[in-house]
Amino acid sequence: MEATDAVNTDRRVALVTGASRGLGAAISTALADDGVTVAVNFARDKAAADRVREEITAAGGRAELFRADVTDEGEVDALYEAVLAEFGRIDILVLNATGPQPMLSLDELQWRDLLDQFEFFVKSPLLLAKKVVPEMRRRGWGRIVNVGSEVVELGVPFSSAYVAAKGAQLGLTRSWARELGPHGITVNLVAPGWIPTERHVDSTDDEKAGYANGVPLGHLGTPGDVAEAVAYLASDRARFVTGQRIAVNGGNTLA
Ligand SMILES: NC(=O)c1ccc[n+]([C@@H]2O[C@H](COP(=O)([O-])OP(=O)(O)OC[C@H]3O[C@@H](n4cnc5c(N)ncnc54)[C@H](OP(=O)(O)O)[C@@H]3O)[C@@H](O)[C@H]2O)c1
Repeated sequence: MEATDAVNTDRRVALVTGASRGLGAAISTALADDGVTVAVNFARDKAAADRVREEITAAGGRAELFRADVTDEGEVDALYEAVLAEFGRIDILVLNATGPQPMLSLDELQWRDLLDQFEFFVKSPLLLAKKVVPEMRRRGWGRIVNVGSEVVELGVPFSSAYVAAKGAQLGLTRSWARELGPHGITVNLVAPGWIPTERHVDSTDDEKAGYANGVPLGHLGTPGDVAEAVAYLASDRARFVTGQRIAVNGGNTLA
């Protein structure tokens, strides 16, 4: 570990989970625009992840790809070692990856369905935080940014497994913020509204307009809107911000 500390000390390194597309891809390019070296994690779609790396390198940034299932302990161990071998450090951890989010009624819902969501939003954050925090603590600087969701505030029906797991992710954020604050590590959560990404290709214009009508700013957001908030929280500009949930949803959850 000591030997790798000398590598790239002028550039911070971020690991972004689920960065081959959607919000994770936009977060990766926004961090790279801020001069951060990015470890682009993906699970299956290497071609898409390659496009993210190419976009970053074409703009003068630095990124490499790291395939891993971030819900699997052995693969997280290997991911951590691979990023360390390539870049020498991880200063910023962005917990963004998601699997399918099926709509299920209470009658249909099984315990396994809840576990499926907890794998992504509780287990994976736990596995990764336990890996990166010791070094962050030693350096006295670190950033953990969870990508949560407005569904916790909205209590979206037929999504209780997803809502419960996103609520738990907020709980981790708040508790870890107190625990890690004395060590110079901030922990925050960005809660997007509905941001159409590749996985929403089947959504109709009517559905999008219906959602946008209820948003105070009157339109849908973009992955870049979410990425800006993550990049801010990952930067020195957010040095006195921790344990917070920042909604990026045009005011949709205004009380
Ligand atoms: N988009 C929205 O409207 C919205 C709203 C609120 C919150 N969010 C949250 O924002 C985050 C990103 O959502 P998104 O819409 O951008 O999702 P997305 O477009 O479906 O992208 C999911 C990403 O996760 C990766 N992934 C899937 N399984 C993985 C695994 N086991 N290990 C590592 N990576 C894995 C995928 O990689 P491969 O393609 O390689 O499989 C892909 O890069 C999620 O936490 C989601 O809950 C999104």
